[in-house]
Amino acid sequence: MTSRIDWVTSSCRLLAGIADEFRDSRPFEGMTIGTGIHLEPKTAVLLRALLEGGARVISTGNLNSTQTDTVNYLREHGVEVVGSQTRDENTHDGELAKVLDANPELILDNGGDLFIRYLENPYQGLLGGTEETTSGRMRLEKRRDDLSLPILVINDSPIKQFAENEHAVGQSVFESFIRITNRSTQGKRVVVFGYGACGRGIAANFRNASSLVSVVDTDPVTLLNACLDGFDVQVRGKALRAADIVITATGAECVVHAEDLAQLKDDVILANAGHFPFEIDVVRLLNDPSVLSVAPSTPGLQTLLTRDGRRIHLLGEGHMVNLAGPNPLGNSIESMDLGFALQARCLEAIATGKVDPLGVVVPVPRQIDELVATAYLNLVREPISSDIK
Ligand SMILES: NC(=O)c1ccc[n+]([C@@H]2O[C@H](COP(=O)([O-])OP(=O)(O)OC[C@H]3O[C@@H](n4cnc5c(N)ncnc54)[C@H](O)[C@@H]3O)[C@@H](O)[C@H]2O)c1
Repeated sequence: MTSRIDWVTSSCRLLAGIADEFRDSRPFEGMTIGTGIHLEPKTAVLLRALLEGGARVISTGNLNSTQTDTVNYLREHGVEVVGSQTRDENTHDGELAKVLDANPELILDNGGDLFIRYLENPYQGLLGGTEETTSGRMRLEKRRDDLSLPILVINDSPIKQFAENEHAVGQSVFESFIRITNRSTQGKRVVVFGYGACGRGIAANFRNASSLVSVVDTDPVTLLNACLDGFDVQVRGKALRAADIVITATGAECVVHAEDLAQLKDDVILANAGHFPFEIDVVRLLNDPSVLSVAPSTPGLQTLLTRDGRRIHLLGEGHMVNLAGPNPLGNSIESMDLGFALQARCLEAIATGKVDPLGVVVPVPRQIDELVATAYLNLVREPISSDIK
């Protein structure tokens, strides 16, 4: 039997094509690429493509999401992996520092962790790099002047927005809810915080599964969009009081907080889809005086029992729910193949000096979007028979 990584590898057709090309063109010859991104099977395919391009690749994961099988596989295939699965911020901090100790010429970041630490301890020779997420872009754009290197934000490519954030996050958050809870969604009241790309996909997937979906967003223009898309747009408190399921997807801190505990219904399920585990203020929630006990109920789910007898369930301890619980799959392989093709092409463009040096924390250049879109379209188009005119 082949492993899941083999299945994922055989499904990443864009990255396979890029790896073949890199084997000849060697855009990273003599360079080190430092990465801080979830270490799971799809990332493994990307990191191997970078190796094919001639790079030394030194990698650590993000908090909580590192998969041991992937780490072992990467080590067997020549990637230097620092650390292992951890939820401890100090341990994680030390692992990020070790990646930067290798003085990589290129950084592939996910959440801004590596670039922010580089600023604390800069070194010679960094050419620039990529940032995968919305949350990382929000951190890095504040330090644009200090960074002054080409940094391309994969998240801000329209391809990443619709293929991953909207379609794939929506689908995988839904899949994770079902996988962890085994509860039905039909007729359930679901509140989605944040109607950006991720929130739109989550709201659509639950609506398609016959849930009654409300959207809460701090931006009235975005909320109007949700309203015209046919979602309920109750004010926050009213939506929370009725909720059976609450999902955050905002990139902001403490979106659901301890003061909300009093208004949540018995048996409500809370989940976070945002990058950082701070969207639900888990520490204050668990330690609130109204909470009598906290106990694991089923893998990936804890139950808080309140003094007035309500059960409040939390998925994945507030970490990204689509990478939490037993057998997490994350976003679809095709969506990650597209996003990681953008990653590989952006790193190639920086390594070969084909980007605007003044483009600090900017979206993926249009020609790279077009290159990746065309490659995908060529894979899905029916081959045209020579006798059809
Ligand atoms: N789970 C995954 O696989 C995955 C994948 C991609 C992105 N993400 C993460 O998901 C989060 C959202 O990403 P996005 O691309 O949808 O972002 P986005 O910026 O497009 O949308 C965020 C929305 O949240 C709203 N918002 C901000 N603070 C709020 C609050 N306190 N209450 C209600 N609404 C609020 C904003 O107005 C905005 O409409 C980010 O943290 C991102 O890094 C997760």
